[in-house]
Amino acid sequence: MIGTPRVHHRVTDSTNARARELAAAGAPHGTLVTAEQQTAGRGRQGRAWVAAPAEALLMSVVVRELGAAMLPLGAALAVAAACEALTGAEAGIKWPNDVWLGGRKVAGILLEGRPQEGWAVIGIGLNVATREFPAELSGLATSLALAGAEAPHVEVALAELVPRLDAWIEAPAEHVVAAWRLRDALLGKEISWGGGSGTAAGIDDSGALLVDLVDGGGRVSLDAGEVHLGSGG
Ligand code: BTN
Repeated sequence: MIGTPRVHHRVTDSTNARARELAAAGAPHGTLVTAEQQTAGRGRQGRAWVAAPAEALLMSVVVRELGAAMLPLGAALAVAAACEALTGAEAGIKWPNDVWLGGRKVAGILLEGRPQEGWAVIGIGLNVATREFPAELSGLATSLALAGAEAPHVEVALAELVPRLDAWIEAPAEHVVAAWRLRDALLGKEISWGGGSGTAAGIDDSGALLVDLVDGGGRVSLDAGEVHLGSGG
């Protein structure tokens, strides 16, 4: 079960850093690290993850069941379903695992791991009570408070998320892929990435993003990295 044991920090640099230490020291599957505040929250692609104290769910989970599961996609499904339960708004996923409400990012997921040692850490940052974002995020970021009638308590958000994470981590790959396809926020949209641009055409059975290149240039699949909405021109 996810959440046992649980370590809560009032302040730490990064819950992912704490969870990685615990995993390397042998912490069991499901070990949960949470924090009210992070001083050096980490995002994907080497970016920082910033959240005001007590306004976001900041959590990392040690995972040791790495079998057939597709952790990055499964974690996003769990977060999306929890967001819907908490707000009543429909949640989408921008490949691979940004969770969107109303066309803006409400949660990010950072997966770090040592597969050869049999563990991974799923780090989740979910904006819960934030009502104002820094200028550079305005128009891009949202929170449960902005998307629903009332901001749930961070612990309530955690309680909605944990059983869903448990279920999606264990789910067979084909179920994860099928459910993920129903939440694909990029499908049919113009996207760009470091290597080009085209129209997002869903994911393949391994979770890679399919893109139809511009001007009939064929179809490519991206299995890592980051894509942006828009042609990038
Ligand atoms: C992203 O770039 O979208 C991923 C953001 C992941 C942020 C969370 S907050 C809790 C956990 N600890 C970290 O340092 N990062 C993740």
